[in-house]
Amino acid sequence: MADRDERPPDGAARPSSRAPALRVEPPSSLSSCVLLPQQGVHARVPMPWLGFGTYKLAHAREAVGSALQLGYRAVDSAFIYGGEKTEPQTGAALEAALEAMAREELFVTTKHWRKFHGYEPSLACLRTSLRRLRLEYVDLWLMHWPGPAWKTMSRRKDEMAANGVWHYAAAGHERESLPALRAETWRAMEDALAQGLARSIGVSNFNIQHLQESGTLKKTARIWPPAVNQVELNPYYQQRELQEYCAAEGIVLQAYASLGGQDASRATVQSLGGPLLEAPPVLDAASANSSLNFRAPSPLQVLLRWALQKRITVIPKANDPSRALENTRVFHFELSERQMNELDSLERGSAGRTCWRNDPMRMLDFD
Ligand SMILES: NC(=O)c1ccc[n+]([C@@H]2O[C@H](COP(=O)([O-])OP(=O)(O)OC[C@H]3O[C@@H](n4cnc5c(N)ncnc54)[C@H](OP(=O)(O)O)[C@@H]3O)[C@@H](O)[C@H]2O)c1
Repeated sequence: MADRDERPPDGAARPSSRAPALRVEPPSSLSSCVLLPQQGVHARVPMPWLGFGTYKLAHAREAVGSALQLGYRAVDSAFIYGGEKTEPQTGAALEAALEAMAREELFVTTKHWRKFHGYEPSLACLRTSLRRLRLEYVDLWLMHWPGPAWKTMSRRKDEMAANGVWHYAAAGHERESLPALRAETWRAMEDALAQGLARSIGVSNFNIQHLQESGTLKKTARIWPPAVNQVELNPYYQQRELQEYCAAEGIVLQAYASLGGQDASRATVQSLGGPLLEAPPVLDAASANSSLNFRAPSPLQVLLRWALQKRITVIPKANDPSRALENTRVFHFELSERQMNELDSLERGSAGRTCWRNDPMRMLDFD
């Protein structure tokens, strides 16, 4: 891995005085790292700016294995992916890779699943993930969702209209008990950190309200803020206030669905003006960035670069190794200020959120 001297990245916004230093190296190569500002026992954990996503991988063992051969060192997994099949397959790929490399060279993320909210269930969830991943610790453990879990997968629209969606919340996950339950999950995560089962802890799909939470979590937390907030983020759905909030608080933002994601229906994509990959500012930036020395970046590379230039870490997923390789080639070109502004103009507000489309809480409008 490259040398990790501490210096601010070129042109990056300076964090506020109370925010911990967020960065080690600017995103300049596949091995460059952002410094996770976790307080507590594991301060200064370096995380690659670019990792490999595993959601909906058809053959996770092969895909993760070849991604690691291509040079990826960060892998983003989750308890729930692939109907719980992705973690074990990822574990097999990691085990094979670790025959030839040191554990410290890898950065493995996994995510707690929301049906395990609460102290003991959360730790049991992590133990299962570790067993499946064949690891003694993960580098980052995320709370996948602020909640709630559902008591059934089949939620009827007429019943939800009549009784509200909380009608389907699992026992103990009712609206009023959720913040306290989430705080118990976080307490388990803090203990996992202290026990060395995770080198850093963070959250995912948290909005500002969840991060600020005047209620239980922030008040009771021993370690706060979370090192990372992993959220849907791309030019259609930029979450600018969240970007500012996280930068000010010293929380590293990690984007998922940087390439447009995998969950959007055709109708949703049409309502946004077409696929992100075909949006004119993306195509323009792709064609304008060729030079004598470099092939023009592809639209996908432009999208990844857009996030990296905002100092947002990325975890694109690709089944095909040639696509996975293409997604690593985002360090040899720079988008101009004008191109960044044009990409910014694609913002569609909350309509741009396309992931979790069958989840009635996807807009996160709960405490
Ligand atoms: N925390 C959360 O709630 C959450 C939610 C969603 C995702 N995530 C994480 O974030 C990762 C990334 O998000 P995502 O997988 O939803 O979407 P994404 O990375 O935005 O997009 C993946 C899609 O882009 C395609 N693609 C990738 N590279 C390509 C290339 N070079 N050329 C053409 N197409 C390409 C993939 O196709 P193929 O695979 O067919 O090659 C796949 O359909 C996930 O894998 C997961 O690890 C987290």
